[in-house]
Amino acid sequence: MTIKFNPILGTLILVVIVTVLLHVCDAQGGLRVVVIVGGWKPITNLTDPEVVEIGKFAVDEHNKEAKTKLEYQEIIKGESQVVSGTNYRLIITAKDGDSPHNYLAEVWNKPWKKFRNLTSFRQCTLQNGEEKCTFT
Ligand SMILES: *[C@@H]1O[C@H](CO)[C@@H](O)[C@H](O)[C@H]1NC(C)=O
Ligand SMILES: *[C@@H]1O[C@H](CO)[C@@H](O)[C@H](O)[C@H]1NC(C)=O
Repeated sequence: MTIKFNPILGTLILVVIVTVLLHVCDAQGGLRVVVIVGGWKPITNLTDPEVVEIGKFAVDEHNKEAKTKLEYQEIIKGESQVVSGTNYRLIITAKDGDSPHNYLAEVWNKPWKKFRNLTSFRQCTLQNGEEKCTFT
């Protein structure tokens, strides 16, 4: 018994193979995107308990370091970056006595090592009466 080459079936098999290959290429394209992770991404939910915890930590830690008594109020903007843990950049409103101010805080969080460090904390500067509060 001989197997006769069927051109229609052959074409069909070829189409299937090409389609599979294209999908593999797609998957690799997707992987390349994953590798780019490390860029800063906006935090969409600023009331996420995890994010709020980071914000409160930043204010508490700054109070300890600078012997201030800032009172955490809320986060008004945030970005995060995945780098051996997560880096957070937050703009936090905190009360300094009676007057609320905005602060830029950077926190590095490595939950599996229970490591969390406030790497930067500064008040947003006023320029011509306008608050300059941007992530650099
Ligand atoms: C943000 O997170 C909080 C707590 O997980 C949740 O209750 C709230 O619905 C979320 N908001 C949005 C807009 O996803
Ligand atoms: C935490 O961050 C501060 C400020 O960048 C730095 O001086 C300190 O060494 C860091 N601590 C650890 C344990 O990495």
